[in-house]
Amino acid sequence: MWIQQRPSPAKGEAALEIRCRGRDLGRMRPVQKSLCALIVLTASLAFLYLHVWSPKHDSTVDLRHRPDQPPKFLLPDHVLVPDKKYAHIAFRIKEEILELLPKNSCKCEAQASLKLPFQKELFGQEYSLEFTKVFKPSDLADINSKREQEYRSHQQRSRSPLDQLIIVQANSPLEFPVQGVEVLPLQTILIPGLGLQAAERTLYQVTLTATMGTFDVAAEVEGVKVEGEGRMHLSLSGSQLDNLNRQMQFVTYTNTLYHPNTADIVQFSTDEHRASFSIRIRHRPTPKLYYPGSSRGGASEGTYNISALVTIATKTFLRYDKLRVLIDSIRKFYPTVTIIIADDSQDIEHIKGPHIEQYFMPFGKGWFAGRNLAVSQVTTKYVLWVDDDFIFTTRTKVEKLVDILEKTSLDLVGGAVREITGFTTTYRQRISVQSGTEEGDCLQVRQGYHHTIEGFPDCVVTDGVINFFLAHTEKVLQVGFDPRLNRVGHLEFFIDGLGILHVGSCSNVVVDHASKIKLPWLKSVNEKQYAKFRYPNSSDDSLNTKQSLFYFKNYFKCMTGN
Ligand SMILES: *[C@@H]1O[C@H](CO)[C@@H](O)[C@H](O)[C@H]1NC(C)=O
Ligand SMILES: *[C@@H]1O[C@H](CO)[C@@H](O)[C@H](O)[C@H]1NC(C)=O
Repeated sequence: MWIQQRPSPAKGEAALEIRCRGRDLGRMRPVQKSLCALIVLTASLAFLYLHVWSPKHDSTVDLRHRPDQPPKFLLPDHVLVPDKKYAHIAFRIKEEILELLPKNSCKCEAQASLKLPFQKELFGQEYSLEFTKVFKPSDLADINSKREQEYRSHQQRSRSPLDQLIIVQANSPLEFPVQGVEVLPLQTILIPGLGLQAAERTLYQVTLTATMGTFDVAAEVEGVKVEGEGRMHLSLSGSQLDNLNRQMQFVTYTNTLYHPNTADIVQFSTDEHRASFSIRIRHRPTPKLYYPGSSRGGASEGTYNISALVTIATKTFLRYDKLRVLIDSIRKFYPTVTIIIADDSQDIEHIKGPHIEQYFMPFGKGWFAGRNLAVSQVTTKYVLWVDDDFIFTTRTKVEKLVDILEKTSLDLVGGAVREITGFTTTYRQRISVQSGTEEGDCLQVRQGYHHTIEGFPDCVVTDGVINFFLAHTEKVLQVGFDPRLNRVGHLEFFIDGLGILHVGSCSNVVVDHASKIKLPWLKSVNEKQYAKFRYPNSSDDSLNTKQSLFYFKNYFKCMTGN
């Protein structure tokens, strides 16, 4: 009978191995045989009990936010304030470049206009809004303290150790991986790329320190002393550099503190030299793929199966006449594409027909809530957003939008909307946020785009587009439409999507817009009610809602735009 304790490198715990050797078993007498079997069984059960059921000393974890200061040596002060060594060196500041650097004290000032003829018509009216004005002065203190608290906790939750600045100091004899080392939560990896290139000496030593896991070695190299196996601090030393370097190739890291997506910043040092590198700890994000349908084209515009790839989503409110015109126009070109309608009208009408899903919501639930509901029901790879008063024509080539999303890294691409006047607009917006003080950040929205797109001469890269766009369903769901924006809202979706959505805009895919402007005495009762909800006057609550959301939710203090 053999009882053997063998180290398990993965957990740093001991595993017990008990065997009744077959050959010995043959020679044993029956009494001995059953005794051996009994011992094996009892020992195994006892081990199982100890291993599985005993309370682990680390079974509770502290998930409170860690102090968010980076370790001091990560951000050397002399980067910010010149130290004595450089104090005597003269320099000349280049104002025009200094201007470009982030200042953490943004202001919203409408850009000085040059007073060109037709400036307003061509470039829009310059404006600047301060969001604190929407609150009663007496409420502001309370709102501000709550906003600050929520903002800090959001920052702590969303900050990753990977955001920390790590500077590799010059002349370090240490070799290590700066980026790209990744481990699954609670799993083990070999750390690649560790090494030491030191001048000759009698003893070479390196140490590794982690905070969310332990080190070990997958093999022991002769002539190297290893201390701290299975702990957060590992020390390796020896008189031969080659042996030490060979030993370092066997160093393992085991994550012991569960987190689905974070990183451990490992300190690596020898004598006076110190380095830091990160080991990313995370589950790989699960892909969410959509079956592309039977006849997958992919090669060119003409071969996409639009019904299999695209769902058309819209939101309607008291405008069934317009909705019917939209659906009829879609059916002329796309007879089998699914149409999803979110409807929060008062006197509901059922829209009948194949491939139509109509979802009813409480009366007046709102614009973004409806968009959210409609998009949540989409089961195709792409969703095409349309307003209920749009009309498809021969120029509404959804294939073109599918083609650009299939062939580029864009997540969402807008088309153009042609007004009844013949005027066509793409409503391209560039959005940026400058950091401010604790009063909040500054939002800037400007007409225009960033780049044109190679191979798609009618398309550009921008941040916000018109109400007519095709998007990866998955990405739209990730951003979501804030249901608190119940009457007016559009650009808010793109502001929430900043940093998540890669947005394009193509002017060669055009949808018609049923007339917006109608003489008031010709309006039907429904249209009048619609106008009351949709176009509130500036004193109305909904504009305040919008601005107070910018202020509290997005942590903006003000905005400028044109
Ligand atoms: C396109 O996709 C739809 C829905 O998946 C399917 O019913 C139809 O047969 C497909 N058309 C072709 C030509 O494969
Ligand atoms: C605009 O506001 C005024 C005052 O609050 C209100 O009487 C009026 O009905 C509003 N107009 C619309 C179109 O909502």
